[in-house]
Amino acid sequence: MRFAIIAPEVPTQRWKKELEVLAPEIPLVIGSETAYADEVVCAMVWKQARGALLPFKNLKLIFSMGAGVDHVLADDTIPEHLPICRVIDPQMAFSMSNYLLMAVMNHHRSFYDYQNAQQKKHWAQFEFSEKQLKIGVLGTGFLGMDIALKLHHLGFAVSGYSTRPKETPFPSYAGEDFPDFLATLNVLICLVPFTPQTEGLLNYTLFKKFKEPTYLINVSRGAVHVEQDLIRALDEGLLNGVFLDVFEKEPLPKTSPLWSHPKVQLTPHIASLTYARESVLQMLDCFERVEKGLPMLQQVDRERRY
Ligand code: OXD
Repeated sequence: MRFAIIAPEVPTQRWKKELEVLAPEIPLVIGSETAYADEVVCAMVWKQARGALLPFKNLKLIFSMGAGVDHVLADDTIPEHLPICRVIDPQMAFSMSNYLLMAVMNHHRSFYDYQNAQQKKHWAQFEFSEKQLKIGVLGTGFLGMDIALKLHHLGFAVSGYSTRPKETPFPSYAGEDFPDFLATLNVLICLVPFTPQTEGLLNYTLFKKFKEPTYLINVSRGAVHVEQDLIRALDEGLLNGVFLDVFEKEPLPKTSPLWSHPKVQLTPHIASLTYARESVLQMLDCFERVEKGLPMLQQVDRERRY
């Protein structure tokens, strides 16, 4: 019995180290070119090439090394019966929420105006009033719920949207109520998974539904927004700023107008951290459950694609 890591873009050293400590009795294979393919029972993956798991005929579990699984599901050669699990990590939520608080607060306290003024050595005490933020969290899954609750407890007006209704201490919208949700906002935080339903969701038609100029923060996937529509909506004032951690194409091409747009802040897909130790612990737990035929909280619903 062996575990495998198939993650061409990830420096696998940290994961290897954790596996050596937490499961020293199980040898590890890195990459799919191995003489031991028949012994591999669990593959930890991140952006594996299409068909990379085919040599592993005795695989019992696929474990995504990140929160998203779009990269796993993009591989249509993966047999239907194989369970796919993902990390659900409070530390990752902590890290993601800190990033989102930074993005919201910088906007809220006009930080970019002060930065501009500083560059011009201009002592500009902009007339200050707390902006009336109405923050919508699109996608109140594990990560979305964490930031929505934190913002709510900080005293901000928060609302949430998810495909299925949820009990929350702030107003929640679901299903058909999407336009009502959008109409209440002036800050939109996007944390939805990438699925056929969310592909290109943040587009010009949606931006036209805002009642007020809105600040958009996207930390989910770049394919959920349409970059040329973001620029158009910024230039027309439908959006009053955009904070992006994810892009249609990553790394963001040097030719992208997003790099130099005065109303765009961006970071290179670093909003939250993946903790190798926690991920390996969760993978081991999932594997034990597979072996014992027990249910797994982290199992991805193939139909819903998250
Ligand atoms: C993830 C990511 O899905 O880092 O975990 O994007």
